[in-house]
Amino acid sequence: MNKLGVIYYTRSDNSKRVAEKIATKLSCELIQITDEINWKGLIGYLKAGFYSMTKRHVDIQLSGDLDGFDEFVVVGPLWAGGLAPSLIAMLDRLPREKVRLVVNSIGSHVEDRSGYLSVHDITRNTGNEDAVIEGLVQSLLGA
Ligand SMILES: Cc1cc2nc3c(=O)[nH]c(=O)nc-3n(C[C@H](O)[C@H](O)[C@H](O)COP(=O)(O)O)c2cc1C
Repeated sequence: MNKLGVIYYTRSDNSKRVAEKIATKLSCELIQITDEINWKGLIGYLKAGFYSMTKRHVDIQLSGDLDGFDEFVVVGPLWAGGLAPSLIAMLDRLPREKVRLVVNSIGSHVEDRSGYLSVHDITRNTGNEDAVIEGLVQSLLGA
């Protein structure tokens, strides 16, 4: 198997949980994306939707470095129909042909799916989290 890193961005810990499950099952390194913005509470929620809809740039920090990996699983949330700005900032640094993208949402799907190794939608209203994770893990173990 290629050397794989699992990177995640989260506001309310769903993507953290998903990324931890994937990294544990594959025994690979977990890297967290953070930003300096307070997204908490109602004001934070509204700001998150506004930043996403207006495609605002956000500066990010990473908990580990990206050197030496062949490919990445990148996990994060959908905000107002698009990827969260900090997730976009991360994806801007990675070639899509090295990325398996896992998107958490209530029910929407990310529209721009082209060029990635694969795209996986975890939607709370279908309860498909563990099935999607298992499918991804099995495809990587078989690779
Ligand atoms: C500002 C904001 C906008 C959202 N917009 C959508 C949306 O358009 N469609 C959807 O299905 N879920 C939407 N969600 C729900 C999140 O995608 C979902 O709760 C996700 O699991 C959160 O992941 P996290 O816990 O890793 O932050 C939105 C959440 C936030 C905070």
